Amino acid sequence: MMWWRDLCVVIVLMMWVFGGELYTVEGRPRRILLDADVDTDDFFALLYLLKLNRSEFELEAVTISANAWTNAGHSVHQIYDILYMMDRDDITVGVGGEGGILEDGTILPNVGGYLPIIDQGVSTVGGCRYRQAIPIGRKGRLDIDTNFGIQKGFLPRGSRKYSPLRQPTAQQVMIDKISAGPITVFLIGTHTNFAIFLMNSPHLKKNVEHIYIMGGGVGSRNCSGCCPVNDNRACQDGECGDTGNLFTDYNGNPYAEFNIFGDPFAAYQVFHSGIPITLVPLDATNTIPINDEFFKAFEQRQDTFEAQYCFQSLKMARDTWFDSHFHSQTYFMWDTFTIGVAVSIMQNSNNNDGENEFAEMEYMNITVVTSNEPYGISDGSNPFFDGRKVPKFNLKKGGVHSGHVQTGLQDPFCFVKDGRGKCKDGYTAKLTGLDTVRVLVATKAKPSQENGSELDKAFYKNFLSVINLPQQTGRFNFTTEFPYYREVFYKPDFRNKELGKPVIFDMDMSAGDFLALFYLLKVPVEVLDLKVSSSGFTCFYVNQYPH
Ligand SMILES: *[C@@H]1O[C@H](CO)[C@@H](O)[C@H](O)[C@H]1NC(C)=O
Ligand SMILES: *[C@@H]1O[C@H](CO)[C@@H](O)[C@H](O)[C@H]1NC(C)=O
Ligand SMILES: *[C@@H]1O[C@H](CO)[C@@H](O)[C@H](O)[C@H]1NC(C)=O
Ligand SMILES: *[C@@H]1O[C@H](CO)[C@@H](O)[C@H](O)[C@H]1NC(C)=O
Ligand SMILES: *[C@@H]1O[C@H](CO)[C@@H](O)[C@H](O)[C@H]1NC(C)=O
Repeated sequence: MMWWRDLCVVIVLMMWVFGGELYTVEGRPRRILLDADVDTDDFFALLYLLKLNRSEFELEAVTISANAWTNAGHSVHQIYDILYMMDRDDITVGVGGEGGILEDGTILPNVGGYLPIIDQGVSTVGGCRYRQAIPIGRKGRLDIDTNFGIQKGFLPRGSRKYSPLRQPTAQQVMIDKISAGPITVFLIGTHTNFAIFLMNSPHLKKNVEHIYIMGGGVGSRNCSGCCPVNDNRACQDGECGDTGNLFTDYNGNPYAEFNIFGDPFAAYQVFHSGIPITLVPLDATNTIPINDEFFKAFEQRQDTFEAQYCFQSLKMARDTWFDSHFHSQTYFMWDTFTIGVAVSIMQNSNNNDGENEFAEMEYMNITVVTSNEPYGISDGSNPFFDGRKVPKFNLKKGGVHSGHVQTGLQDPFCFVKDGRGKCKDGYTAKLTGLDTVRVLVATKAKPSQENGSELDKAFYKNFLSVINLPQQTGRFNFTTEFPYYREVFYKPDFRNKELGKPVIFDMDMSAGDFLALFYLLKVPVEVLDLKVSSSGFTCFYVNQYPH
């Protein structure tokens, strides 16, 4: 009996010693590479990572996915400015590149990642088979590229600037950072960059310890119209329940989520790479909306520049939102929640079941749909196979990649008369069988542990405390940033003047209004005694593009 107990003690001790060493290899921090497009919640996620204790988590590089919500130049500038504010000019930022993929499938160095792999040839110019699901103007890339003007108005400008041909490319940065040693990869945009890296440098896979992904929907059901989170009305059957979130393409493809839809073949490469994967899909993020309570709590707690920056951006997103459901049904914590879950899992890395503070986890076998059944057809939609004796990348004839590939939003193949769309490109489908991968999947956000807390999800509170930490905070010196700024109040002297007719000019801030204002200011005060009021401009956006 005694020896048995002693043995147990020894084994437990060994597990403790070795286990402990596993997750802080000789006390060194976990190295992290983040691949992101630069949507609002992507930079929340970036700032969250930058706030973490650098002895535990060290962000090494950011690579930008220029194949989704943002364009290369804009997103590099925004990331540079954020990093400068946070005093982290040491972090490399990679984007784009001029390389291509030859007809025979040879991948040249530095493929730009501007196009989905299926349409990538030798040029950086090509069609927008998937990306057209993202609106170009309002409610889409325009908003995200400009961050509604807040980036220019708020962030200090450092010395790093985007310079197209001299910018480190995403592929260079991935190769440098991943060949330097064990690293964890976070993918919160489309997977093009990382998939190209994996296809080109399979020998470096062994250095990637884990991939955490925000994307896809496995068993998710959207709640539009019929079952808002805070509403008791019952859902009618079939009234809601789509897995995906392609708000521009529900009619054709109700299954896909934007990040995976941006390049389904790339996502397939990543999921099937053999590297351990944790997925945070819409299933989980749909349960953590930016609700009223969280918004108010955030409004009241902005102790750091980074918290102010995030809140201002969030508020602008809300104020320009297309409907009144921002707080309950349409805006969620996507990427930030994913990073929170990932970090919490990494902090307890002795568990295999992804035990963490913020999300419930479950193992599932899934795959990424890249083409639609029946397989083995040749209808002009699939450049991997069409007109080729040998399929590109030696893909299998009649295999899962050989069916019809969605060509765009108007693809007639996808539409079913009086029914839901049938295209599943980009669907992270739960299946059984050989061609599936066992993945740890977040299924829902965990409730807050505090009784009576307004913030009913554990992660709401964590986000606010992390983003407001006094450590590693933004530096922002208004004086150096705006050297010509003076606060001066000019008061005209009207003492000996007879003022003319009082006129109130109620303006919003559109260009035409400014023009009219200048015109009125040219009129002598003896003729017009001008007063100005402003009626704001939120109503501008009402009834524009439906989101
Ligand atoms: C950061 O982590 C290190 C190592 O775990 C620890 O010694 C240090 O106290 C932490 N710093 C803060 C500010 O929590
Ligand atoms: C939810 O799905 C329905 C179709 O079932 C679709 O019409 C609606 O636009 C979707 N809404 C959101 C916000 O996801
Ligand atoms: C799940 O996927 C793994 C490969 O990742 C496979 O070995 C296993 O058989 C699959 N399980 C089921 C039930 O399909
Ligand atoms: C919260 O309430 C439950 C019962 O409603 C109780 O068991 C638990 O101890 C309470 N937790 C805290 C932190 O007060
Ligand atoms: C801001 O910069 C100015 C000029 O460089 C300097 O005099 C001032 O002390 C700085 N303020 C802070 C808070 O660092």
